[in-house]
Amino acid sequence: MDILDATVRAKPQYGVILTRPGLPLKTPERSQLEIGFGNGEYTVQYAEAHPDVMLYGVEISGACVLKCARRAAGLGNLRIINTDARYMLRELFRDESLERIFMQFPCPWSKNADAHRRVTAKDFADGLAAVLKVGGTFEMLTDDELYSQEVRNVLGSHEALTLSGYEVSPKREITTKYERKWLDEGKNIYRVSFTKTRAFSAERRTEQEMHIKIDNPVNGQELDSLRNIEGRDERHNAFWKFGRAFSDGDSYLLETLTSDDEFMQEFYIMILPRDGGSLLRLDKTASAFLTPAVRSAISDAAERLSHEGR
Ligand SMILES: C[S@@+](CC[C@H](N)C(=O)[O-])C[C@H]1O[C@@H](n2cnc3c(N)ncnc32)[C@H](O)[C@@H]1O
Repeated sequence: MDILDATVRAKPQYGVILTRPGLPLKTPERSQLEIGFGNGEYTVQYAEAHPDVMLYGVEISGACVLKCARRAAGLGNLRIINTDARYMLRELFRDESLERIFMQFPCPWSKNADAHRRVTAKDFADGLAAVLKVGGTFEMLTDDELYSQEVRNVLGSHEALTLSGYEVSPKREITTKYERKWLDEGKNIYRVSFTKTRAFSAERRTEQEMHIKIDNPVNGQELDSLRNIEGRDERHNAFWKFGRAFSDGDSYLLETLTSDDEFMQEFYIMILPRDGGSLLRLDKTASAFLTPAVRSAISDAAERLSHEGR
């Protein structure tokens, strides 16, 4: 359990937000995931109705995370994670760790301009197929008929997934805010369901730890010279950019922005004096994950600050 998690637990007016989870998560036998839970109303009711299940909720909006955490006060079987599920799904969960994944009215993913962000994008579909248990299900609800058909066709042809249901306006005991909105407006909603029917694995891209030691100390001027320097690794579609540097005397924090595909992270690289040289690592208070772009940014900063070969 990390410190912030402990803080949240000590404040029972909030549910449990996993702020810096070790990856992959250690999930209990019966674990499920909701992607894009919005205000968390459905999420909390669902978790209450399934006390024997550990429900994970991944949501990209910080405001929604807070709303859900408020509703989830005292609820022991919900874990909230504030990140982008498109990139982080397979990083957060081991192969075959979830019995059910559901995604309800994921409107930002269904627009034409966002085709590469959709559930049907190969990368996301592979992640989904990997983290589900064999026999586990993925369920998506949408008000967009064309999108529901595309999901049905594309995911239905994935080697590890089999279409198990396609329903129009199914009756459900617990409903979401968007579901009620569309139904009240007289629109249909579509539920597409899949079962994982064979083993499948996907490659992971994040790591747990990264420290780089260089043999020389660094000074504020050298760090300031990194400001606005950008780097790119085409192979991983990774990009990074350095910003301002801050110092408390001995150590420095270097502002850094990265993107992996379109997964953006902002954090600090910490530079500490160590045995006459310097140690570079991700700032421990950062909630960034060690993706390829973050690793490249740390290596690049180390290379630029090293005096070796000068
Ligand atoms: C239209 S709302 C639906 C909310 C809720 N499921 C409901 O039915 O009321 C879509 C939600 O998906 C979230 N979302 C969009 N992209 C996401 C991503 N890449 N990862 C996680 N959540 C995402 C949005 O922040 C938003 O809360």
